[in-house]
Amino acid sequence: MGKKILLAHDHVPGIQGYEVYRQNGGYASVEKAIKTMSAEALVEEVKKSGLRGRGGAGFPTGMKWSFLAKPEGVARYLVCNADESEPGTFKDRYLMSRIPHILVEGMITSSFALGVNTAYIYIRGEYYYIVSILEKAIEEAYANGWLGKNILGSGYNLDLYVQVGAGAYICGEETALLESLEGKRGNPRIKPPFPAIAGLYGCPTVVNNVETLAAVPFIVNNGGEAYAQIGIGKSAGTKLISASGHINKPGVYEIEMGITVEDFIYSDEYCGGILNGKKLKAVVAGGSSVPVLPADKILTTPSGEKRLMSYESLADGGFASGTMLGSGGFIVMDETTSIVENLFTFARFYHHESCGQCSPCREGTAWMEKILHKMIDGHGTIEDVDLLWEIQAKIEGNTICPLGDAAAWPVASAIRHFRSEFEEYVKNPNSIKVVRHYDLTQNLVNA
Ligand SMILES: Cc1cc2nc3c(=O)[nH]c(=O)nc-3n(C[C@H](O)[C@H](O)[C@H](O)COP(=O)(O)O)c2cc1C
Repeated sequence: MGKKILLAHDHVPGIQGYEVYRQNGGYASVEKAIKTMSAEALVEEVKKSGLRGRGGAGFPTGMKWSFLAKPEGVARYLVCNADESEPGTFKDRYLMSRIPHILVEGMITSSFALGVNTAYIYIRGEYYYIVSILEKAIEEAYANGWLGKNILGSGYNLDLYVQVGAGAYICGEETALLESLEGKRGNPRIKPPFPAIAGLYGCPTVVNNVETLAAVPFIVNNGGEAYAQIGIGKSAGTKLISASGHINKPGVYEIEMGITVEDFIYSDEYCGGILNGKKLKAVVAGGSSVPVLPADKILTTPSGEKRLMSYESLADGGFASGTMLGSGGFIVMDETTSIVENLFTFARFYHHESCGQCSPCREGTAWMEKILHKMIDGHGTIEDVDLLWEIQAKIEGNTICPLGDAAAWPVASAIRHFRSEFEEYVKNPNSIKVVRHYDLTQNLVNA
């Protein structure tokens, strides 16, 4: 069994409630931090741990924390990004609904480290049922003296609030999230300034993912060095992976970074192999935004070594033959899957979710959806494949926020690795023996 940090007590009955969580070592990191450590020492431990942001970009957390501006007399904020709307990603949902106190504890310890007195959890609207779970956990934390005024008699005060979004993917982008939290339309801001300088209400703000903040209690309890020793190289610690698609055991798994992709897909501890003994065709390793890779490329690196579940190994080969760990949304496709149809589903999503601020994204995502729709309706041409390529290339890098890139990369990688499938599709769509996994007409009517 691999090392567990976040889900170590997932099997314990009643772990969602305060008493059981506390009996299993809960809130020890708050005690240790407030009673025995300085804010600076806490930031140092997080730096030493090598923890990287689990929201997708993998930015070093300790470094992000050390960028937080601390002007005299100005409020600072910690905001937990629980927007989790990336197709294929459902790990934060699992963690928050099963062990809500680990997030509350992580936020208290992190807030103390950052000198923050007001913190927010911004959660996606569709996770409404988790809001009451979080609010109950927060209430219990207040009732037991972990939140509120003069925590543990230290003079330190912290208030924690849950804010529910309205179900827009763009509000997961940190500056759009801050706009939304301020009560405005969730349009991403131009950076710089970064939130660490001017974030919520123009004040210095740290935005971190749920899983990132939930890792902080272990780091504080055991030391940064202990965390850094788990995992592999610059991919320290464990990672929650939400596995879906054509596998025997879909679900959320906590893996130690550095296990092989092959092990993750085929071993009984994790995905348990491909459904119905079919062959693996392709994998989207880190949520819909990352490049799709065919079976041979996801299992082996360009130098022929087994590919590992780590930031570095998954990216080995760059965009030519690599991908990204992203948010850990691991989507497995078997030999019956149509890459063209899958891409159409993703393209519809990005078109729908583009905020419309930047022309390349607003117009480009619309055209990519239209062209793919035309293809799967049987009216595509070879020129359309080139046109798709051209459009995605004009979006990438030309927008305020990375939603444009996220829409472009699936298109680019699908054409790069499966061009012959697109050509076959447009030449003779009816000859392709694919299983339709949804009713296309119904889907479009509902769009
Ligand atoms: C379109 C878009 C959607 C995003 N959605 C999320 C999300 O749901 N959750 C998340 O933590 N980060 C999301 N991010 C990344 C955030 O902007 C930000 O990098 C992250 O919250 C930082 O936390 P971390 O350093 O702990 O990873 C998204 C980014 C983009 C461009």
